[in-house]
Amino acid sequence: MTYEEYKKSVALLNKYAYHYYVLDDPIATDEEYDALYKKVEEYEKQHPEHILKDSPTQRVGDKVADGFKKAKHLSRMWSLEDVFNHEELLEWINRVYKIDSDVTFYCEPKFDGASLNLIYEEGELKMGITRGDGIEGEEITQNVKTIRTIPLSIAEKSLIEIRGEVVIEKEEFERINQERLKKGEPPFANPRNAAAGSLRQLDPKVTASRNLVFLPYGVGVHSLNFSLLSELMEYIYSLGFKRPPFRAKAKDADEIESIYQKMKQERESYPMMLDGMVVKVNELQKHEELGYTVKYPRFMVAYKFPAVEKVTRIKDIVLQVGRTGVVTPVAVVEPVEIEGAVVERATLHNFDEIERKDIRIGDYVIILRSGDVIPKITKVLKDRRTGAEKKLERPKYCPVCGSELLDEGALIKCQNLACEARVVNSIIYFASKQCLNIEGLGEKIVEQLYKAGLVKSVLDLYSLRMEDLLLLEGFKEKKARNLLQAIEASKGSELWRFINALGIEHIGEVASKTIAEHFGLKYKDVAKEELMELEGFGEEMAESYVEFMRVNYETVSKLEEIIQPRPPQKKEEASENLFKGKRVVLTGTMSRPRNEIKEMLESYGAKVSSSVSKKTDYLIYGEDAGSKYDKAVSLGVKTITEEEMMEMLA
Ligand code: IVH
Repeated sequence: MTYEEYKKSVALLNKYAYHYYVLDDPIATDEEYDALYKKVEEYEKQHPEHILKDSPTQRVGDKVADGFKKAKHLSRMWSLEDVFNHEELLEWINRVYKIDSDVTFYCEPKFDGASLNLIYEEGELKMGITRGDGIEGEEITQNVKTIRTIPLSIAEKSLIEIRGEVVIEKEEFERINQERLKKGEPPFANPRNAAAGSLRQLDPKVTASRNLVFLPYGVGVHSLNFSLLSELMEYIYSLGFKRPPFRAKAKDADEIESIYQKMKQERESYPMMLDGMVVKVNELQKHEELGYTVKYPRFMVAYKFPAVEKVTRIKDIVLQVGRTGVVTPVAVVEPVEIEGAVVERATLHNFDEIERKDIRIGDYVIILRSGDVIPKITKVLKDRRTGAEKKLERPKYCPVCGSELLDEGALIKCQNLACEARVVNSIIYFASKQCLNIEGLGEKIVEQLYKAGLVKSVLDLYSLRMEDLLLLEGFKEKKARNLLQAIEASKGSELWRFINALGIEHIGEVASKTIAEHFGLKYKDVAKEELMELEGFGEEMAESYVEFMRVNYETVSKLEEIIQPRPPQKKEEASENLFKGKRVVLTGTMSRPRNEIKEMLESYGAKVSSSVSKKTDYLIYGEDAGSKYDKAVSLGVKTITEEEMMEMLA
């Protein structure tokens, strides 16, 4: 590789990463990226004097810091005033109008994470500083460089502070907590703590492993010349930063209110947690005119969403035994309404957690629920104790089958493979959506079938007979027929569903898909080494899989014979059709679950993604299509209905 080629390769890698992390719209495969990355690394080893500052190899340092130095922000980082209802919003607007009534507004989500100040000089990322007290914070540049949504270099060459929020998306939050629990570490209470904790790691490798996302919301010191904040932000995004999922301009209080209501309604569908909407005066020259109070700028306000945290009382703690035998304590709480849903239970994770937080039956606690985040207890209000609270002992015997439990510290497990809870839960899992998707085979019915002695393992499902079912309470001919048909329909399921349904420890949906794709119907006979070559597979996963197949070879073979799972079609095999190779986005309510339609389109060779961009070929919409539809129209993307899609496929 020549120096010129090296420079081009670095630029190309940065472009790939920008499309992948910032735009959510990959333009290269992981293999292509990795191969080019290796070449760049190789060149840099031979020519260390040529290493470019924005080379992706410069993101993860291996130096573990012994502490963080303090650093001053170039200009103060303020706080935001909060308002909680329409009246308070009106009061804020009236205060603004008193100073200047000729203003408009710009609304963006209020992200719930940790604020961060980035200093760029001559186009180069020089420093990342936490908010601290607003005047000075901690210098965490090494960690900041590991965040893939923060460009190491930008096209703006003047000195500029770019400010924003570092967040952890909800799925990533659950993944990190699962990992922490497995290692016996306390889980993070909420994505905000997880983001802040991940930023302040002395080892940048830990920060790098957390998949943090940076969302810019403003600037500090700068010499840009824009008249509107909305334009200034558009320019900042264009420098290589991630756009928030939603933003809008508003003329007056009514428009702000309707944008707020829409955002509040849609917040669960955003990948990250929001705790409100920030309303900002859009005209930049008015900002100085409006000025600051001692704490807040007068030209913006946080219009908060109703709290997702509430106080309640723990009535009881019950023990659940999952399909892997792990005993999970679950708090039964006095029902509280949080964001329109009534919460009656919250996971307590494990017994170490109960001891660490000293959670007792009868305690008043703070409970948190948001979107896909499972309700959890974030704090015990110890001041409210009366002395009547009861501690929970670590159980010694399985609450379901009575056999002795294995106490591994963080995890307590029932070892009895025939334990009713394990069997019932593994059948429920087998039939669940992400597995064989057998409709009608939920918790209650599985328990009923088990108790009646009709189903003791998943194999038994396939020999159920009409006359057996008709003897059960609540089963009439129609219900029985539907269930038998649903079970029958699971024959011929995709192979990855079949593998996933086996419930092998550490092997989830993604791993099952990888195995199905690589080995097809030879999935039972793969060696540990072969598995470890697959992307995302570590030793623990490979071992768990191989061991499971060794022990259960016969059962799996029998199941396979009955179910006849369908190995994946090679992608090239999709025959010519109007969707092959096309980028498609689905939105709105359709006649079938969107996931099913997605899979069908993928089998025709379409690439289905979640967000609309200029590159989208078709937006397929159902009822009540919202912002994606509007965006497609504004970008000139072709929009078609579900029916039109079916006609095109016919
Ligand atoms: S504007 C004046 N815009 O909320 C300082 N802040 O509660 C506020 N935040 O410290 C900057 N999303 O870390 C602004 N769209 C947004 C925001 C946002 C989240 C954070 C920010 C600030 C905190 C104040």
